[in-house]
Amino acid sequence: KRVAVFISGGGSNMLALADACTAPDFPAEIVAVFSDKPSAGGIEKAQARGIKTFVFERKGFAGKAEHEAAILAALDEVKPDILCLAGYMRLFSAEFISRYEGSILNIHPALLPLFPGLHTHERAIQAGVKIAGCTVHFVTEGMDEGPIVAQGAVPVLADDTPETLAGRVLTVEHKLYPLALKLLAEGKVRMEDGRAITSPGT
Ligand code: GRF
Repeated sequence: KRVAVFISGGGSNMLALADACTAPDFPAEIVAVFSDKPSAGGIEKAQARGIKTFVFERKGFAGKAEHEAAILAALDEVKPDILCLAGYMRLFSAEFISRYEGSILNIHPALLPLFPGLHTHERAIQAGVKIAGCTVHFVTEGMDEGPIVAQGAVPVLADDTPETLAGRVLTVEHKLYPLALKLLAEGKVRMEDGRAITSPGT
């Protein structure tokens, strides 16, 4: 399966996916990395791996529709089967999502439906939860609310700061995302009637 990864920052999840794809039997390859930030550290890391990169800055376009139209035109050239959002800090419109519905994944640094949105680690510590983690879900129109594909849990330690918790969660993200991508690429999970249907035994 052909995968396009969307980033806005360092791209550590994109790198974890790229590394997983190097396994000969892995059912996906990253054919492009897209970013909305020319300064995203992940861009040069992708280029160093010979992955085609595209940068579409929002401010370069009159409106959201024009911005998305440019991204969709580039996607029509790249022809991905799957989009993986990985630290991409922008919401896509329902029209954009409908073009790839059921084939867009996102990773969120919390155990959804708890703590959607930003500053998840700070909120987890504030709430006094003892278990935190990350979620890979199908992307739907609403933010961080699509059907869940996979989750990973980590303990919240008494002396955790948002930074130490973020580091522990990120380590699990880097294992979880390739697992979730593999499931989707192999057809072992699919989105149907707004739900994630996983094949038995998965
Ligand atoms: C990660 O915590 C991810 O869950 C969130 O953005 C953070 C940075 O991701 N979406 P990356 O290092 O850019 O992949």
